[in-house]
Amino acid sequence: MSGAGRRRRVAELRPGERVDSIFVVARKALCSFRDPARGCYLALWLADATGQVKARVWEGASEIAPSVQVERPFRAVGTVEVFRDGLELNLERLEPVAEGDVHPEDFLPVGARNPDEMAAEIGTLCRTVSEPSLRALLESLLSDTDFLGAFLRAPAAKVIHHAYLGGLAEHSLEVATVVLTMAELYPSLDRDLTLCGALLHDVGKIHELRYDWVIEYTDRGRLLGHTVLGYQLIAERLTALAFPEELGYRLLHLILSHHGEPSWGAPVVPQTLEAAVLAHADLLSGRTRQFHRILQSAEEQKTTWTPYDRVLERYLYRGTTGGRQGRYQEPGDG
Ligand SMILES: [Fe+2]
Ligand SMILES: [Fe+2]
Repeated sequence: MSGAGRRRRVAELRPGERVDSIFVVARKALCSFRDPARGCYLALWLADATGQVKARVWEGASEIAPSVQVERPFRAVGTVEVFRDGLELNLERLEPVAEGDVHPEDFLPVGARNPDEMAAEIGTLCRTVSEPSLRALLESLLSDTDFLGAFLRAPAAKVIHHAYLGGLAEHSLEVATVVLTMAELYPSLDRDLTLCGALLHDVGKIHELRYDWVIEYTDRGRLLGHTVLGYQLIAERLTALAFPEELGYRLLHLILSHHGEPSWGAPVVPQTLEAAVLAHADLLSGRTRQFHRILQSAEEQKTTWTPYDRVLERYLYRGTTGGRQGRYQEPGDG
């Protein structure tokens, strides 16, 4: 951390304070002032393991901009300011940091769950699958160290939910837990098939996202999407394993339909009971995590309401006392 003083992380930034820290430049944009005579300023999105913060360089932006490399670490010196709903860094200095001085892992968010523990849980679930072909498929994937390593390390998203290293495995296990509960309620649900679909529905994310300095889409991921990439990955395995034909279609249908609606990226809508349950379980896990993440940041900021969330198109209410003070009165009771 040469010359950067005490490092402040994004989540620790407070209005008015001076900052001298190392961040990764996630994005940059040279923007024109409304008054063209004033030239341009440089807008940046700086990231570390705890989040992203917007930053601006007001002076000499056109000269600095070409030397600011995206997805590389930079030492940023400036002041934290409040702008609209959030915090921004007003930068005075921005200088590159030798890559040997920092480790990319330090800038990526990591999930709370231990990867070995998740691998053990996946292994335990796999051993509950009695259908021999599905069991063989899961075993072939879990014994593939490259696959398992990538599955345990990949995030489940760039931003919205489980967007941290280990997020894919964590999300897949959550979805598996939900579908197993549904299998207990509905014995007509094919438990082994739905469990297999829950664990594998998002495997395409291994190739859809990259996670070197920041979590970002790969070119292949942006062009094809994880639904199709996951279909490809599993279809190849099915061919290699001489998988039963109809069961193979049913499993691939789970992968292709798990987003539920064409407008949410599903090439086909769920047409089996297993697919309907999986699509809802997937949404439940993703949506719950999304609310949880947004409310947690309100918790840290001690605010009653969250800032407006553009993805959910609403404010979320954290409240102040958990609703346990005062006495409820019917609206209009005076
Ligand atoms: Fe998905
Ligand atoms: Fe998912």
